[in-house]
Amino acid sequence: MSINKTPVPLNNIENINQFEALFNFATIGIIVTNKEGKIVNFNKYAEIQFGYSKEEITGQVVDVLLPTSTHERHIKYREQYYHHPEPRIMGHGRDLFAQSKDGTTFPVEVSLSHYIIKNETFVIAFVIDITVRKTHEARAMEQKNELESVTAEIKSMNLELEQKVEDRTKMLREALSELERSKEELNLAYENEKELNELKSGFVTVASHEFRTPLTTILSSAYLLDKYNQSNADPRVEKHIDRIKIAVDGMKNILEDFLSLGKMEEGLMQANVELVSPSEIDTIFNDLIQDLDGLLKKGQKINFTNSVDSNVWLDRNLVKNILINLVSNAIKFTDENQPIEIVAVFMDTIFMVCVTDKGIGISNEDQKHLFERFFRGKNANHIQGTGLGLHIVGKYLELMKGRITVKSKLDEGTTVTVYIPQKK
Ligand SMILES: Nc1ncnc2c1ncn2[C@@H]1O[C@H](COP(=O)(O)OP(=O)(O)OP(=O)(O)O)[C@@H](O)[C@H]1O
Ligand SMILES: [Mg+2]
Repeated sequence: MSINKTPVPLNNIENINQFEALFNFATIGIIVTNKEGKIVNFNKYAEIQFGYSKEEITGQVVDVLLPTSTHERHIKYREQYYHHPEPRIMGHGRDLFAQSKDGTTFPVEVSLSHYIIKNETFVIAFVIDITVRKTHEARAMEQKNELESVTAEIKSMNLELEQKVEDRTKMLREALSELERSKEELNLAYENEKELNELKSGFVTVASHEFRTPLTTILSSAYLLDKYNQSNADPRVEKHIDRIKIAVDGMKNILEDFLSLGKMEEGLMQANVELVSPSEIDTIFNDLIQDLDGLLKKGQKINFTNSVDSNVWLDRNLVKNILINLVSNAIKFTDENQPIEIVAVFMDTIFMVCVTDKGIGISNEDQKHLFERFFRGKNANHIQGTGLGLHIVGKYLELMKGRITVKSKLDEGTTVTVYIPQKK
């Protein structure tokens, strides 16, 4: 608000009405006091602001319009002002408060001025109620503070985030180099193992091959001994000759397994698939069942069902070897007097063979390892075997791009199914 630098001379009578109007219709409170600080004039707007009528306030000391706590200070200020009157804003940057008739206080802005009539000085106070402005200011301040605290929070979150990103990047880098290191270690271990395996299987192949000749000699000598013993039969000699024959046969089988494994690992073995008619399948299976007859225990019987009704692609030798392994397992791990079922089926471009027994079964835990080299089930310790049969079966099936599944329950029995895909 601008303030007149000089007091307004009110000596022009013709203008009085105009000033009256100005005084009473002003939208600002105007209070005129005399040298004792008593109110001599009080405009309409001041009445609204303070709740006093002009009549009741006239003659009262102006201090009554201020909060009681400021009275003492105000008396001093007003006396000083009276001695050195000049147009100025009251309060000098302090928050000023006024008090209305009902005792409520409200923030105000007050400008002071004065005029002199007949040597008497009057002081005019222009009062603006700044409640609304103060509320806005307070809200703006609150918002500013809020904004500042949000900004500070965002800044600290940002810092935290940057730190986190940095930490994570560092961790990631470390993990990556760790990964790289373990990859290298793994590669090295793999190379070492490969080399060792090659050495092992090379050794096994050579050893197996070299054993075959002496074994054949042992076997033929056993047969000769048997023959020479005929004329002068001694049952004890016969018994031992039979034991030699069985043991040598067993060893030969193991050596055959080693040799074919070695060949497969060196990639020397290939599937040789041919079209086989349903009646040929009959022959293959029945011959095989006859070959295995010697292994059957008392009362064991092999039932074969051939449901194949069209030609099938297969490698006769591989399928024969696979079946020898599976059926000899079924015989070996099943008690006397139990049947063994073999079913051959051709379905949806797949040739399937199931071998089912009612034997000792395989535990769920053991089923996970059946195709590992030298694996033997926990319940099979007392039954002879090396744990190579199924491993070799798996390898043979790989050659024919086939697969195998085992369904088994301990003490109830086992069904092994072989799947051989067909050429389209
Ligand atoms: N029909 C089955 N019934 C119960 N257990 C079986 C059967 N077939 C396989 N097994 C279990 O799986 C293991 C591995 O079978 P695999 O044919 O590889 O070895 P093996 O018969 O013990 O020895 P090998 O076949 O080398 O003479 C067996 O030792 C046995 O525990
Ligand atoms: Mg076996």
